[in-house]
Amino acid sequence: MSSKIAVIGYGVVGSGTVELFETNKEQIVKGIGRDVEIKYILDLKDFPDSPYADKMIKDFNIILNDPEVEVVAEVVGGATFAYNYTKALLENGKSVVTSNKELVARKGAELLRIAKEHNCNYLFEASVGGGIPIIRPIYKCLAGNKIEEIAGILNGTTNFILTKMIREQMSFEDALKLAQENGYAEADPTADVEGIDACRKICILGSLAYGRQIDPDKIHCSGISRIKMEDVEYADVAGYVIKLVGVVRETEDGKVSAMVSPRFVDKKHMFSHVDDVYNAICVKGNGVGDAVFYGRGAGKLPTASAVVGDIIDALKHKGTHIGVSWAESEADMLLSRAEEESSVYVRVKGSNSDSIENMKSAFSSMFGKLIFLERANRPDNELAFITPKMKEKEIDNNLTILSHTVSIESKIRIL
Ligand code: HSE
Repeated sequence: MSSKIAVIGYGVVGSGTVELFETNKEQIVKGIGRDVEIKYILDLKDFPDSPYADKMIKDFNIILNDPEVEVVAEVVGGATFAYNYTKALLENGKSVVTSNKELVARKGAELLRIAKEHNCNYLFEASVGGGIPIIRPIYKCLAGNKIEEIAGILNGTTNFILTKMIREQMSFEDALKLAQENGYAEADPTADVEGIDACRKICILGSLAYGRQIDPDKIHCSGISRIKMEDVEYADVAGYVIKLVGVVRETEDGKVSAMVSPRFVDKKHMFSHVDDVYNAICVKGNGVGDAVFYGRGAGKLPTASAVVGDIIDALKHKGTHIGVSWAESEADMLLSRAEEESSVYVRVKGSNSDSIENMKSAFSSMFGKLIFLERANRPDNELAFITPKMKEKEIDNNLTILSHTVSIESKIRIL
């Protein structure tokens, strides 16, 4: 008997999933050992010219109630319809595979529990890092390690924009437009630009590594929209590039520290060479040391590659729960941002009458030993420096005091 698949959502990832599945169907069928077919594609839009027009439906209940459908790819995104669909499918014993990081980050604990209760699977390799294998390596290959830290460039769109701004002096708006044309950006690119997408991804990785749901709304998240060319120039002269980085780790007293923010990345650090739509994720385990995963973090076929891989895995595990899960979040499990320790780059502007030398000595007496930065054509009233490593609450207190006399233009953490 042939196994049937349904795809919910025929956007960039959905159409890529169908395309890749059909291209490699012969090999997929051979690997699974039985015939497999995409029976339905659900989308509210019409695609009369599509070669798959005969599979297009608009009623979710057709998929839910068809006993032949074993696996459903939910690639519609969002956390409302997708949540209701996924829950109903899992409760019906159908496995669901997804690229929907918003849903996994918000409801992963619950949906994984439902999958376990109904002896099916909820797989989400495509939710982090596009085509890069990272979810399975963490819960399978690296399962023998205590994960000390995971750090990553997790958003293809912002990495693409930063690369174009830094290397080609392209404007932010033009680079974003190009990322959208390439199918990298979210439907609402604010989620990319403001770090929300990367935040969901670091929460998924942290939940997986530390076994407790990390709520994306509860961790610090800032994006790249306030980064200026001045900051890029100071970074460059000082030997850094600016990247949007997510970091999650467990502290010695068992709290989870997680955040997403732009970072000054040393040009000698491997992340500084991760450009365009590429993502890189470094997992530090107490056995393996650093293991780095690198590849295309967004785009139609790279993301489809992970979705189709999950479809195959779900078909191969028909009737068996694979066992990936994490618990609901706990109160007080997160380290507050104020307690995080960082070294930060700060750029300030004084009034024209402020003397740079006076500012330098006043700031040094507050922060301790500062590294002052230069850039070509630095205006006389502008000062940029890197602080020593200190608690964020101390940095913030100092910056609040400084803000009475100078304007704080930028604050970017050092990786
Ligand atoms: N918008 C996301 C990105 C897509 O740019 O990384 C892949 O999750």
